[in-house]
Amino acid sequence: MKNVLVTGGLGFIGSHTCVELLELGFELTVIDNLSNTREEVKNQIEEISGKSVNFINLDLTDYKRLESFFSTNKIDAIVHFAASKAVGESVEKPLLYYENNLVSLLNLLKMCKEYDVNRFVFSSSCTVYGQPDTLPVTEAFPKQEAESPYGNTKQIGEEIIEDFCKSNLSFKAISLRYFNPTGAHESALIGELPLGIPSNLVPFITQTAAGIREQLSVFGGDYNTADGTCIRDYIHVVDLAKAHIAALEYSHKMEESYDFFNIGTGKGHSVLDVIKSFEKVSGLSLNYQIVDRRPGDIEKIYADTTKVSKVLDWKAQYDLDDMMRTAWEWQKKLMQR
Ligand code: WQD
Repeated sequence: MKNVLVTGGLGFIGSHTCVELLELGFELTVIDNLSNTREEVKNQIEEISGKSVNFINLDLTDYKRLESFFSTNKIDAIVHFAASKAVGESVEKPLLYYENNLVSLLNLLKMCKEYDVNRFVFSSSCTVYGQPDTLPVTEAFPKQEAESPYGNTKQIGEEIIEDFCKSNLSFKAISLRYFNPTGAHESALIGELPLGIPSNLVPFITQTAAGIREQLSVFGGDYNTADGTCIRDYIHVVDLAKAHIAALEYSHKMEESYDFFNIGTGKGHSVLDVIKSFEKVSGLSLNYQIVDRRPGDIEKIYADTTKVSKVLDWKAQYDLDDMMRTAWEWQKKLMQR
């Protein structure tokens, strides 16, 4: 596989996947519209990998510019990360989310058809499951009504891709249903770069520890869990990046034209577990307060990873302490800039 197009490749998960692809000798082109990242991430990817990155500042909803890119660049496979992903924002601005996330995907698939690109890995989310009735959740569980327009764009995105695969059997696509990505590269040169007030837990923890935020609000202490706080399956971003490599490699030998996998550790941790892990690895005491629940949050979810370990031969290697350690190293490095 010579040239892989990574859309959203300067983003959190995209940048870590670019590093893994480059270190394995893949050639790659990154398309990013810089709406939720900074161009300097390209330099960090190059510094870590020692390879150069071909970066195009392009918005995937711009069909004409996208067409002109594909007409002059041979692409063998696409890893598609580019999307708006803030759950709360999607509730306030649904049209922006449906336009950005779905028009981008439709334009890319039209390019695949027109320019014979037949390998596609899609960034999906465990949010498609809603609150499962039992746990751990397997890929056989039904998709539940999305809790947000963001989650709905992931569900609709999977259906669009699956229908396209049915119409074009040489096109092979895999959706990866991420659980909760967190942590950062061991070099601390790339990590989660939330622009503005973080909505996700771990960047809020590290910014509170760094004194950027006053106090962490723990959303809800009265859930039906051991310590009353929500449970999630946190997965290290480097493990997640490696899952994309495994999916790309599998796309060359898969029989079906479409498949999908849970990408988690298979372990659930509560918000208080995450805080305790952070305090242990940082040696700091975190300033937090338990407040009311956040609307839209589900109580608990964690993955059954049987299918991905069997079919893709992939298993998460990092544990929660590694995630907190690397996230904290990244936060400290950010503050030295
Ligand atoms: C985790 C837990 C919060 C912030 C969402 C999307 C998912 C993916 C990741 C994009 C929850 C609690 C959080 C805070 C808190 N999106 N929390 N205080 O909501 O599980 O998943 O983000 O890739 O698709 O659904 O992640 O990190 O926001 O929350 O107590 O300041 O931490 O209530 O229980 P979430 P999160």
